[in-house]
Amino acid sequence: MKAQIEELLRSTKREGIENVITYLAESDFYTAPASGTLQYHNCVVGGLADHSYKVYQHATMLNELLPANKKFSKESIILVGLLHDIGPKVNTYKDNILASGKISDKKPYVKNDTFKIGHGEKSVIVLLQKGLKLTEEEISGIRWHMNAFDDIGFYKGKDSWNKLSILCFIADYFSSQFLEE
Ligand SMILES: [Fe+2]
Ligand SMILES: [Fe+2]
Repeated sequence: MKAQIEELLRSTKREGIENVITYLAESDFYTAPASGTLQYHNCVVGGLADHSYKVYQHATMLNELLPANKKFSKESIILVGLLHDIGPKVNTYKDNILASGKISDKKPYVKNDTFKIGHGEKSVIVLLQKGLKLTEEEISGIRWHMNAFDDIGFYKGKDSWNKLSILCFIADYFSSQFLEE
């Protein structure tokens, strides 16, 4: 999984991508869960990397269904698919140890986020901090990938979504609801 993700990211040849690859390798990206509670998706070790790869795969499939003049570039699908969650979910989960000393069965992880700046917003900010050159379309695609679930609210947010964010949202929701633990 790690080798596949790194190869995909490197294939974009995007300015700053090596910094992002290094950051992922040095962070808990490949071991972090995708969520902290069993009722949500991929609440397991390695859940985030698995989720990110699945979102990339399904965004690619959806992109292939689009007419030629509406397709997104492979690079945009790779960057948005693989990196959409790195802000809120990398280096933010820790074990939820109960008073008994055991890790909680239902909620094995809790968030320990010291830089709370939003969900999609944080992914964009972290990537820009690492020096990744993103297009405005990709920034918007990552920023709004939660679409209707975004904390800014459906009515305020929907005028801001771009098509790339909608494609990412569909791949994200499909993967989390049907293909993950
Ligand atoms: Fe997300
Ligand atoms: Fe996601």
